[in-house]
Amino acid sequence: MDQNLKMIKSIFSSPKLRLPLPTVDVHSHILPGVDDGFQRVEDSVEALRRMHSAGVNEFILTPHIHPGVSMETDENVVKKAYENLLPYVPAGIKTRLAAEYMIVPGFEKKADDNYLLTYPDGSILIEMSYLFKSDNLEKTIFSLVMAGHKPILAHPERYSYMADNLKTFDNLIDRGCRFQMNLMSLTGAYGPESMIILKYLLDRGLYTYLATDLHSLPQMERMLSAVADKKLVEKALATAGNTTGSWR
Ligand SMILES: [Fe+2]
Repeated sequence: MDQNLKMIKSIFSSPKLRLPLPTVDVHSHILPGVDDGFQRVEDSVEALRRMHSAGVNEFILTPHIHPGVSMETDENVVKKAYENLLPYVPAGIKTRLAAEYMIVPGFEKKADDNYLLTYPDGSILIEMSYLFKSDNLEKTIFSLVMAGHKPILAHPERYSYMADNLKTFDNLIDRGCRFQMNLMSLTGAYGPESMIILKYLLDRGLYTYLATDLHSLPQMERMLSAVADKKLVEKALATAGNTTGSWR
C-alpha cells in the first residue's frame, strides 16, 4: 500500500483526544460584518463567551484583508467594526485587532506601510489562495522581515498543492516565516494532502501557533466536540507555544 495512504488510514483508526484549545487564539473571523466570518454582533459575543469558558483567554481578531483588491474591507473598515464591537465584549475577555492578509501580487511593496494591522509583537498573519501558491510568497516574507515584522503563514496544511513539495516549508522557515495550524486540520477535515503536510510539519516541530480560524457558531460547535488522533494532538500540544499561554 502507498505509504501516505497507510499513514492516513492508521490516523483514522487510532485512539482519539479532544482538540486542544489555545490560550491565545491568534486567528479568527469573530469580528462581525467585515468578511466571510461572523455577521451578527450577538453571535460574535456568544462565540467569545463559549470559547472563553472552554479555555481561550485572549482573542486576536483577524478579518481577511485583500490589499488593493477589495475596497470593502480595508484597515479603516475593520478598525471601525472593532470599535463598534468593543462595548459588547463581556468583561474579563481580552480581544485585540489584527488581520489576515492575502498575499496578492505586489503585497511585498506594502511591507513598510505603517497602517498594516499586526500583533502586539510585530507578527503579521498572511495567507494564500487554496488553489495556487502566490508567486511573491518568498519575496513577501523577505520584505516583511526586512521591515521588522514577523510573518506567520496561516494554515500551511491547507495549501494542498504544496503536498508534493514539502521542502518548500523548510525553506520558508529558513527565511523567517512561522506557521499557524488550524485546529480542525487535526481531524483530517481538509483531506489527505492536508494531512500529509500537517504530519510533515508536526513531525519536525515547525508549527508555532494553534488557532481556531473560527468563522461561525456551527463551526464552533463542531470544533468543541471534535476529536483527533491522540498522537497528533500530543504533538500539536508539544510544538505550538500559544496553546500553553506563552506569547511568542
Ligand atoms: Fe482565516
